[in-house]
Amino acid sequence: MTQDEAPKGAQATRRRFLSAAAVGGVAATLGPARAADLGAPGPGDPANLPPNVPDWSKYLGDGVAARPYGKPSKHEAHVVKRDVEWLTASRESSVNFTPLHELDGIITPNGLCFERHHGGIAEIDPADHRLMINGLVDKPLLFTMDDIKRFPRVNRLYFLECAANSGMEWRGAQLNGCQFTHGMVHCVMYTGVPLKLILEEAGLKPGASWIMAEGADSSGMNRSVPLPKALDDCLVAFRMNGEALRPEQGYPLRLVVPGWEGNMWVKWLRRIEVGDAPWMTREETSKYTDLLADGSSRRFTFVMDAKSVITNPSPQAPLKARGQNVLSGLAWSGRGSIRRVDVSLDGGRNWREARIDGPVLPMALTRFYADLDWQGEELMLQSRCVDDTGYVQPTKAELRAVRGVNSIYHNNGVQTWLVRSDGSCENVEVS
Ligand code: MTE
Ligand code: CO
Repeated sequence: MTQDEAPKGAQATRRRFLSAAAVGGVAATLGPARAADLGAPGPGDPANLPPNVPDWSKYLGDGVAARPYGKPSKHEAHVVKRDVEWLTASRESSVNFTPLHELDGIITPNGLCFERHHGGIAEIDPADHRLMINGLVDKPLLFTMDDIKRFPRVNRLYFLECAANSGMEWRGAQLNGCQFTHGMVHCVMYTGVPLKLILEEAGLKPGASWIMAEGADSSGMNRSVPLPKALDDCLVAFRMNGEALRPEQGYPLRLVVPGWEGNMWVKWLRRIEVGDAPWMTREETSKYTDLLADGSSRRFTFVMDAKSVITNPSPQAPLKARGQNVLSGLAWSGRGSIRRVDVSLDGGRNWREARIDGPVLPMALTRFYADLDWQGEELMLQSRCVDDTGYVQPTKAELRAVRGVNSIYHNNGVQTWLVRSDGSCENVEVS
């Protein structure tokens, strides 16, 4: 699918993905698990297959000067962030989604990190950028980017999840693909300065108990953060995965608020005010507040609770062959590390433990796998994670029993994918 074919509605989304799956030849390629026996050609142009010499072995390739900033192979051009046009009124205050079904491991490549902007991408010349610290401090300060880079720095791997991730799914299965249902999450290695060091440089006055972080984008987005969190593990970050932050992610400076809702991770960070109470900004009153069934609301729901999703197979990544397959997914918790992930093939009746592989770090994505021997039977795939506080990811029914269906935010319920006998997958719910 190209960007031009972006879905126009939930139903359209579903039909489009299903027909794409059928045209993609899922049924045609069903066969034995291992088709690598000599003589089984598989897909591809016969002219490039053994015993012929393929094109790329006959000519010299590009030299080292041809690609000064490396890009993925042209055969991976479909691996892109995607948006859902009808979701928001404008593209400047909108969101696109990480293609989770095309990724593996736990690191999100910089170019594929989802974006959420309230006023478009600010294009900032770092020479013209300052970070101001004011409010209940002994010395108000103004830092250049060079000043910030002279503080001792740390490297930390964290997930960032928008509180609205899976928000469209509160009332029922809606968007057909984990990119759209769960793709408002990414996980990169940040390099930055502990916020504590910068606040200590300014000196906190008695009564200081909250900070307010403000962005330099046209929305001037701002959020209040309790001082204990600010002094604990928050960072003022200028690098992601080793290189400078991307403009989309807040270049040249963003706040990192580990495990807490993405909205608080202010991008294009220009000011931190210290105060004695929350500021009650738009983003923490009318937004990022969960309306309960009885009309009351949950405020300051900062922590992102444990959540998991099977990324493969999933609606955008159908099963292609019977026999041995790899089931894969991601789990994360804003309260700590993932201790265990279970998967079910029958909509939550029976569970087995998944195999976690790769680093298991607090407040970072965790990768899990399960061997899947599939003989064409219908499956109802689910994953359920437990974090190291013992918190168990709830079912959607459990979540709705407590929160109702008015919420947009903090939907961490168990996701179900229906796998049909032709290998295609669909977003469904089990009752
Ligand atoms: N910071 C500013 N200045 N402006 C914004 O629009 N969006 C917030 C947060 N920080 C936003 C911001 C929201 S809602 C989220 S989920 C995260 O940034 C998204 O970060 P990302 O674009 O790096 O994925
Ligand atoms: Co958000």
